[in-house]
Amino acid sequence: MKVIVTKDYDSMSREAAAIVRKEIEKKRDIVLGLATGSTPIGMYNELIRMHKEEGLDFSSVVSFNLDEYVGIDYNDPNSYHYYMNVNLFDYINIDKNNVHIPDGNSKNIEESCRVYDKLIDEKGGIDLQILGIGANGHIGFNEPEEELNVGTSIVNLTPRTIKDNSRFFKSIDDVPTKAITMGIGTIMKAKKIILLASGKNKSEAIKKLVEGKKITTKLPASVLLLHPDVTVIVDEEAYGINK
Ligand code: GLP
Repeated sequence: MKVIVTKDYDSMSREAAAIVRKEIEKKRDIVLGLATGSTPIGMYNELIRMHKEEGLDFSSVVSFNLDEYVGIDYNDPNSYHYYMNVNLFDYINIDKNNVHIPDGNSKNIEESCRVYDKLIDEKGGIDLQILGIGANGHIGFNEPEEELNVGTSIVNLTPRTIKDNSRFFKSIDDVPTKAITMGIGTIMKAKKIILLASGKNKSEAIKKLVEGKKITTKLPASVLLLHPDVTVIVDEEAYGINK
């Protein structure tokens, strides 16, 4: 696992965008795994800038998002469908037919999860997966539990994640309690992974991860220690450097 510590959030975002750009330029029809949350917004802004000012071309890029809440309207600003449009897709030349996000409103969620994994395989697998990390060490919405799902699945959110994510909602009661997430196996099949973290509240999880001593379902991100190509990009605060 390679660890890059950047001065602040903006330099973390630029560092990550530069890697994404390099990979797109290497393979125009790259399959990207995309994350939501507040962490990747700066990286998306930088990619939009690269598209507008430097002609970075997304026309052949294929994307699969990590997760989506269950039972949320896609026009709801808190849905990840909405998030992806307003934070990236509406400002680049990606073909929306090439964009995939788990369907939290499917009538048959189990089946739609199975189809999601199958589609990723059919597209040749994820070339570059972007990850954030929950304060409790979750990746996607794979929460610390006794067992972790291998494939894309419906999961219950932990009280800590519901509380953390309630900052985006009107009240904590509006936060969905279930989500669909790529499974740990789906994520681990990605050829290359970058994980981003910013801010003090991630430092505990990042410390355990970069110490690299143990793999445990109590820290789902620790499975990444088994992956051959992971780059963790964190700002000083997330790395535990107090300013
Ligand atoms: C969310 C998402 C994750 C994200 C994480 C951190 O709940 N499901 O994919 O990485 O939690 O979010 P943030 O970047 O807002 O701290």
